[in-house]
Amino acid sequence: MNASPLIEIRQLVTRFGEHTVLNGVDLDLYAGEIKVVMGPSGCGKSTLLRCLNRLVEPSSGLIRFRGQDITAPGTDVRALRQSIGFVFQQFALYRHLTVLDNVSLGLRKLRGLRRAEAEQKALQELDRLEMAGHRDKYPAQLSGGQKQRVAIARALAMDPAVVVFDEPTSALDPVMSREVAALINRLHDEGVTMLCVTHDLVLAQNIADEVIFLDQGRVLAQDSIARLAKDHADPRVRAFFGRDGDKA
Ligand SMILES: Nc1ncnc2c1ncn2[C@@H]1O[C@H](COP(=O)(O)OP(=O)(O)OP(=O)(O)O)[C@@H](O)[C@H]1O
Ligand SMILES: [Mg+2]
Repeated sequence: MNASPLIEIRQLVTRFGEHTVLNGVDLDLYAGEIKVVMGPSGCGKSTLLRCLNRLVEPSSGLIRFRGQDITAPGTDVRALRQSIGFVFQQFALYRHLTVLDNVSLGLRKLRGLRRAEAEQKALQELDRLEMAGHRDKYPAQLSGGQKQRVAIARALAMDPAVVVFDEPTSALDPVMSREVAALINRLHDEGVTMLCVTHDLVLAQNIADEVIFLDQGRVLAQDSIARLAKDHADPRVRAFFGRDGDKA
């Protein structure tokens, strides 16, 4: 593990009007690491992720990415968004584009690659996720799990330093969720750095030894799910993790 974290979040505060959503979040993510963030609905998990690529502007605090303060004015947001890949619950694929075009579009538009180069790179990523055979299909012709693979291929195609997942399995059935868990584990073995927000205890258990529990705008606990469910002093934490497989 490197000495300094790839992403370093310090005392992050985010307010929407009077509503303080994040109230002093600290989090480190090291290269090659996978971290899972859980917490009650509305506790600010998506907001935390959105601060990372400047979709939300923090009210105070610090986010360093590769040692640079990304909340500073003058940050190259476009470059930042290429370095931090996002994968969402609803896949966010373009319905009118084929699988290949969904994955190659960013390479052409953001990276300026020619079509042939972009498609070659896109096919490599699709192949890595066993989706190359579906290259000419449209999203409507794919299962949820396959759509999520395409969304992950699209994120990976940009060679991001980190892939951030927001509820990657909440639109999937349990079988497909397990497939996504297996895929995330494989990417972890390949050295991909990941930060994953999820309500899915099975996913969390499958991909990480410990989870970060966010509550009332802060990191309230960080431990294995088993210990959080059984031993944590706060009954809300025990209740959250005690309901196996259930949503919060
Ligand atoms: N752009 C915004 N403007 C105002 N309020 C917002 C905005 N985005 C989020 N919020 C509020 O911030 C709080 C946290 O939202 P967020 O989406 O981060 O929660 P979450 O932990 O991801 O919830 P869930 O588990 O349901 O996805 C909510 O009360 C939400 O209504
Ligand atoms: Mg959310």
